[in-house]
Amino acid sequence: MNFGFFQLARCGSMEKVIRSFKQLESEDFRILATVERGMGSYEYVPIDYITKSFPKNVSETISRLDRLHKLKLLVRWIGAYIGYRLTLSGYDILALGSLVSSNIIYAFGHRVGIGKESDVYDALTPSNERVIVKLHRLGRTSFKQVRRLRSYVHNKGGSWFFASRGSAEKEYSALQILFEAGINVPRPRGQNRHAIVMDFVEGDELYLIRKLPNPLKILNEILDNVKLSYRVGIVHSDLSEHNVIVKPDFHVVLIDWPQWLPVKHVEALRYLRRDVSNILRFFERRFGVRKDLEETMKKIL
Ligand SMILES: Nc1ncnc2c1ncn2[C@@H]1O[C@H](COP(=O)(O)OP(=O)(O)OP(=O)(O)O)[C@@H](O)[C@H]1O
Ligand SMILES: [Mg+2]
Repeated sequence: MNFGFFQLARCGSMEKVIRSFKQLESEDFRILATVERGMGSYEYVPIDYITKSFPKNVSETISRLDRLHKLKLLVRWIGAYIGYRLTLSGYDILALGSLVSSNIIYAFGHRVGIGKESDVYDALTPSNERVIVKLHRLGRTSFKQVRRLRSYVHNKGGSWFFASRGSAEKEYSALQILFEAGINVPRPRGQNRHAIVMDFVEGDELYLIRKLPNPLKILNEILDNVKLSYRVGIVHSDLSEHNVIVKPDFHVVLIDWPQWLPVKHVEALRYLRRDVSNILRFFERRFGVRKDLEETMKKIL
C-alpha cells in the first residue's frame, strides 16, 4: 500500500508499525481482519477458523500468518490448538489501513501528544492538509493491574480493542454534532476502529499560556461554546485548561470529547458544573479574572 511518513522523527513503536505497513499486501489486511472478527468469540482465534476463510490458499495463509507474527502484528498461542490474536500494532494497522484506503489520510507524521488514554499523531491528507490522528487506548494506564486480572481480560477476547473503539466512536459522534452546530471544535474527518481523524488546530493549550491580551474575552468565548454545546445536548465532562487550544488569532477550540454526557444523563449537571468551575478557577488563578459560578451556571442553563 502506498503510505509513508512525511517525517520519520522519533515515532517509536509507531515507526515500526508504519514500516511493517509498507510490507503488507491486501491479503495480509484480510487475514488481520479475519483474526479481528474471530476475537469476538475466541481468546485466541484457531488457525482453522482463519484458513477456512481462505479455502483456496491454505498454505499461503499459513505462511502469511507466520510473517504477521514475526512482524509482531499477531500473537501466536500454541496449546490445545494453534491460535492467533491481534497485537495493539495489528489493530493500529487495520485502522490506519482503512483510513488510507478511504483516502482520509495519506502520510503519518510525528507524535504530538500522549494523553492518559490516547496517542495523538499528525498526519497528511491526500491533498496535503495537516490533520490529527487520535488513537484511543483505553485501559493502558491500568495495564499492570489488568495483567494481574489475566483471566478476565482474556476470556473477553479483544475487550481492550472494543472499548477503545467505543471511545473513538463516542468522541467522533460528539465532534460531528458540535461541528455541525458551529461550535469551536476540530472538524471531524473520519473514524475507523479506535482512530479518529480531525483537523489539526494550530495554537497552544490554555494551560501553557501565561499572558493574554484580553483574558475575559477568551473566557467568555469558552463559556459561550459550553452553552452552545449544552443547547445541542452535550456536556464535555472533562473540560479544563488542558483541553482548550488557543489559536494564534486568540480564538479557542475545545478538544478531547470522548467522555461527554448527554444533557439528560443524571450526572450531566454535576459534570457541567465541574467543567465550568475548572475554567473559572483557572482564569481567576492565572489571569485574575473573576466570575461567579452560580451566575455563570444560570446563564448557561
Ligand atoms: N485537533 C488537534 N489539533 C492539535 N493538537 C491536538 C488536537 N487534538 C489533540 N491535540 C494534542 O494532543 C493532546 C492530547 O489530545 P486529547 O486531549 O484529545 O486527548 P488526551 O489528552 O488523551 O485525553 P486526556 O486529557 O484524558 O489525557 C492535546 O493536549 C493536544 O496537545
Ligand atoms: Mg486532553
